[in-house]
Amino acid sequence: MSMTEILEGPEAIVAAVARLGLGEPIAFPTETVYGLGADAMDADAVERVFALKGRPASNPLIVHVSGASMAEDLVDQWTDDANKLSEAFWPGALTLVLNKSELVPDVVTAGGSTVALRCPAHPIALGLIEAYGKPIVGPSANPSGWISPTTADHVARGFDGHDLLILDGGSCRAGIESTVLDLTSDRPTILRPGIISHLQIGRVLDQDIQIVEPPSGGIAKSPGLLGAHYQPSIPAMLKATEELNHADDGVYLIAWSLKSPENSKQSTTLPHDPVGYARGLYNALHQAELSECSTIWIERPPEFDDTHPTDNTPIWHAIRERLSRICQTSPSSNP
Ligand code: TXA
Ligand code: MG
Repeated sequence: MSMTEILEGPEAIVAAVARLGLGEPIAFPTETVYGLGADAMDADAVERVFALKGRPASNPLIVHVSGASMAEDLVDQWTDDANKLSEAFWPGALTLVLNKSELVPDVVTAGGSTVALRCPAHPIALGLIEAYGKPIVGPSANPSGWISPTTADHVARGFDGHDLLILDGGSCRAGIESTVLDLTSDRPTILRPGIISHLQIGRVLDQDIQIVEPPSGGIAKSPGLLGAHYQPSIPAMLKATEELNHADDGVYLIAWSLKSPENSKQSTTLPHDPVGYARGLYNALHQAELSECSTIWIERPPEFDDTHPTDNTPIWHAIRERLSRICQTSPSSNP
């Protein structure tokens, strides 16, 4: 009987390297979410990742590298901006989209001419890439359309019954997916917001960074980034703080402003600060799915003043972008 296997420690890396060499997918932790890894240079292995996830072939994968020197081989030109940004943020939660070199198999980029590259800031992810010695594709380690996994158990639940080795790195520190920055258009453009913000990127490049606003952006630059929905297995809705009191036993509550919602048996209270909130959000959703509840109510995140951004503002923006894909109601009247 095939089943998922969770391993940790140095033997886990050795086992994972062996599987990668055989063209088999493995799951590994990063600082953002867990990834589903395969040899990025092995088209058959990459196809197995698409098949395992049930991912449309039109949605390209991120390639994980151990550093800028590995990235340089995969691009047509390692630009000045790429150089500055990798020096400032790698290893870290910033994915750079650049024109690809011939080395990158078409299946990785969904036939497109650009490739997304990231050097993850997680010792197991980096150790794995270094031990394997080659770049590794890493879409989030969830079946397509599911919430991204932030623990090895989340991955195991998603791929129950599959022969999948999962490297255990505990809970992911960031908890939401990396910022995806397109460096191939006239101006650097954020395709997916994350913890690393347009303000931080703008300071390094000394220019304003634009952000594609899904789903109204309407730019099909990145098929996977617009209009896609991450649907929990039970419906999720955003609710104003006052409405939370009306939750009955069938509601799983994900709050941030209340210590312990008295009327709900099942709930998670996330931290007030957006870094802590992002770290806990997906786990709360996984817990809600495991509960007996039939609905998830998510307390609307705090409003903020867009005209006077603080360092926290872009992180709430990234969180609301995720909530807009997860929930059936809009995350804010003031996006
Ligand atoms: O934090 C992360 O980025 C995680 C960890 C595992 O590294 N990975 C991740 O991968 O979130 P995935 O495949 O779930 O999301 C990658 C997103 C997709 O929406 C995809 O469409 C987009 O990046 N993407 C990949 N290659 C692209 C490209 N060449 N141009 C534009 N967008 C691209
Ligand atoms: Mg994903």
